[in-house]
Amino acid sequence: MLDQRFSNIWLVLACVLLRTALGLTPLSDDSLRNLPIAGADFDIKSGGILAPILVPRVPGTPGSKRVQQHFVDWFSTNLPNWHIDYQNSTSKTPATGDKQVPFVNIILTRDPPWAREGNIGRLALVAHYDTLITPEGFIGAIDSAAPCAMIMHAARSVDEAMTRKWAAMEAEGSSGLEEEKGVQILFLDGEEAFVHWTDDDSLYGARALAESWESTYHPAMSTYQNKLDSVSLFLLLDLLGSAKPRIPSYFKTTHWAYQHMALLESRMRTMELLATEVDHPFLPEHDKDPDTFRMRFGIQDDHIPFMARGVEILHIIPTPFPEVWHNHRGVPDDGEHLDMPTVDDWAKILTAFVAEWMDLEGYFSGQAEIPDNAKRSVSKRKTEFDLVSNRVQR
Ligand SMILES: *[C@@H]1O[C@H](CO)[C@@H](O)[C@H](O)[C@H]1NC(C)=O
Ligand SMILES: [Zn+2]
Repeated sequence: MLDQRFSNIWLVLACVLLRTALGLTPLSDDSLRNLPIAGADFDIKSGGILAPILVPRVPGTPGSKRVQQHFVDWFSTNLPNWHIDYQNSTSKTPATGDKQVPFVNIILTRDPPWAREGNIGRLALVAHYDTLITPEGFIGAIDSAAPCAMIMHAARSVDEAMTRKWAAMEAEGSSGLEEEKGVQILFLDGEEAFVHWTDDDSLYGARALAESWESTYHPAMSTYQNKLDSVSLFLLLDLLGSAKPRIPSYFKTTHWAYQHMALLESRMRTMELLATEVDHPFLPEHDKDPDTFRMRFGIQDDHIPFMARGVEILHIIPTPFPEVWHNHRGVPDDGEHLDMPTVDDWAKILTAFVAEWMDLEGYFSGQAEIPDNAKRSVSKRKTEFDLVSNRVQR
């Protein structure tokens, strides 16, 4: 009996070591085929995920508050296992004089249930939710309502598989043997400049968050020293949702992660699982020559304060920028100008990437269905009190 149990432990351990040595298990063709699409939830008028974000969301305005509430309501209703947190700050801006403008970052986290905070390395899925103050009424569909929506869809699509995987690990006694991995969503405020883009007039939310996390220490002997170290990859989505995007691989140290995503895109294109027809892939630089990475910080965006502190960045933003960017060429960046097949494909590619990162092959139920509760519209408004008590309970 004792021997039997003992050899089981060795078997588990051997599997774990093997898996760690080989890296992640690729998603099977079946898993790729069964990845859900957001369907009606991405409808720009009535979609339960996307429509409520397609309003002006200037920091400190009622529109911004409503979208914050939408995120919080949606997660509390659909993904109650995700821990909701805020990181708030205030700042003057060149457009608002002496007034302190509030900036509210919303952070959603799902970790293995047994893991200790300081020992969890997290994949951070990041997009900003604020919009430009001018032109008045600016919607920012690609910038970045659609990226926020893609992230919500991806979170929902992997949620059950994460539950299953973690339950299985606890049952087989292998919890705590592998490195602990979680997923975190950062909906950042105040990315846009109020007047002209400068170091001080931009990235309000990201700067405040990076600074705060750098000085939030974990207990001694934790795997990660502070909250910033816990971010194993900062995956930033921006300006996505226009047709035929071309995303270069910006950074040498995360090119492996870019390749990982590019490979998923290419597999799904070969299998005809994507809705778009393109003359080049969204991610065309799988085979980029390692000697040709030139940019140190890349395009100015929310990753800057994190990158400056040593966080690994995968920046998914097109070069050149889409035509609708900031309405500069007279084409408004609104819901009507999104290319929905492109939005759906990004959501799928992102979901697959998160699933592989979290090593979820074998934990999908094989149902390519939108969960029932996603079809219902959110009616229950959570109060701040509910949120606080949620937090205390966890
Ligand atoms: C941050 O701001 C939000 C939105 O105004 C508020 O609901 C929340 O309680 C604040 N959180 C903290 C920790 O101050
Ligand atoms: Zn912008």
